[in-house]
Amino acid sequence: MNSEAPEPDPAEYLGPTETGGAAARRYHARYGSVLPAIDLAAGNTAPRHHPGAPLVRLPFPPFASAPTAGPESLGRLLALLYGVTRIDWSLAGVAGNRPVPSGGGAYPGEVYLATAAGLHHYLPTTHALERLSGADLRPELTGCLAEPPSQQPELILLITARQDANLARYGPFGHRLQALDTGVLAGQALTLLDSAGAAPAAHTHFADQPLNRLLGLDPTAESVHVVVTSGSAADLAPTRAVLDRRSARSGFEPTAVPSAQLAELLDRAALPVPLDHPGGPGAHGAAAELYCVAGRVSGLDPGCHRRDPGSGELRLTAPGTTPRDLYPPGGPGELAGFEAACAVLVVGDYEQGYPLYGDRWYRMLNIRAGIVGQRVGLAAARAGLGAGLRCDFVTERTDAALGAPPGRTALLSVLVGRERGHGAPSDPLILVGGHP
Ligand SMILES: Cc1cc2nc3c(=O)[nH]c(=O)nc-3n(C[C@H](O)[C@H](O)[C@H](O)COP(=O)(O)O)c2cc1C
Repeated sequence: MNSEAPEPDPAEYLGPTETGGAAARRYHARYGSVLPAIDLAAGNTAPRHHPGAPLVRLPFPPFASAPTAGPESLGRLLALLYGVTRIDWSLAGVAGNRPVPSGGGAYPGEVYLATAAGLHHYLPTTHALERLSGADLRPELTGCLAEPPSQQPELILLITARQDANLARYGPFGHRLQALDTGVLAGQALTLLDSAGAAPAAHTHFADQPLNRLLGLDPTAESVHVVVTSGSAADLAPTRAVLDRRSARSGFEPTAVPSAQLAELLDRAALPVPLDHPGGPGAHGAAAELYCVAGRVSGLDPGCHRRDPGSGELRLTAPGTTPRDLYPPGGPGELAGFEAACAVLVVGDYEQGYPLYGDRWYRMLNIRAGIVGQRVGLAAARAGLGAGLRCDFVTERTDAALGAPPGRTALLSVLVGRERGHGAPSDPLILVGGHP
């Protein structure tokens, strides 16, 4: 960037004035990478709560008794979506942790749910609901969606982001991180509800003002990013992958992973995403594709490969690239990249949606990347592999190292490999068998 040029306003692309993608492009060029503006000493803000709202306690642990309808089945869903599901021990001490990852552990996302019983906000650490309204708001809420479902959903999850949650630490990059984080949450919701046979769908294209108003939100502080419409969650059962997923805190053993295991992981991550934007269900390749930078994958040449969305084959795009090349030299990403067997990248078709959706496309694309990134993490847990989502790559350099066509940009990386030893000590709080 020309040093004479004025600094772009980081929040411009989120503002009321539509620029057809110009503001989003400016933001991505200046703030799309986490580095160098990061202050690890800065804290994250506290989660949201609504003083004065009546509390509905949910049973914990959530799978201790036979399932019933109502708050209990919602409690099961919410615990596996965003509750405290495990205790982790590390050099820094002991902490209660969540089923989903979050950039820097900031957890900027908030979960609201609308049912026939009203509108509630979920408090993860107390595993309780705040009752915001007793009215059935589902018809008004679906009325705000660009592509409302054909039938009235039984359940609507509204995933918001707190604007200030991570900005002190990450600077303006925090806005992109919030979109990735809410995508991760949406990915977890889709996985859980799909396993319950509830046919969920995620919506990122909606009328912001009326939707935020229905939730009573001040959009300069907190706004809706994703809406998930769904059938009943009563048949939800936890899978082992959902209970086992966590970041590989002990690093990776520098050993090879078989290419067949990697191919299965990528196939799972590439399953159709029920989302309301381009290509429709089944065509996630249209907006985001998977690339894999192989370091130690037996049966696969080292280098960067693009997964063909049609055939599932991996096609070499950059023979020399190794996972460590994606991260700044001397940093933790480079070390982790050296150890990992491979890096899986979610690469977005950055230009595709601006003509259709304007600046909003940037947030939609990052949400999609979060959904796919969460699937990679779950697929790795299912395969018994360690994984860690990372966004500490420098976008421009990474895009060049991938050998991707112009207009494509790396949005999220996931390092995958065998976690060292038995991994960092972690104890589940939900003790059930679970399916694979
Ligand atoms: C969008 C996103 C980006 C992340 N980026 C990084 C990163 O750059 N470096 C890192 O060490 N961890 C990164 N993480 C992992 C988080 O630090 C981790 O999820 C969080 O500390 C919670 O731990 P858990 O995943 O074990 O539950 C990222 C996670 C998400 C969702």
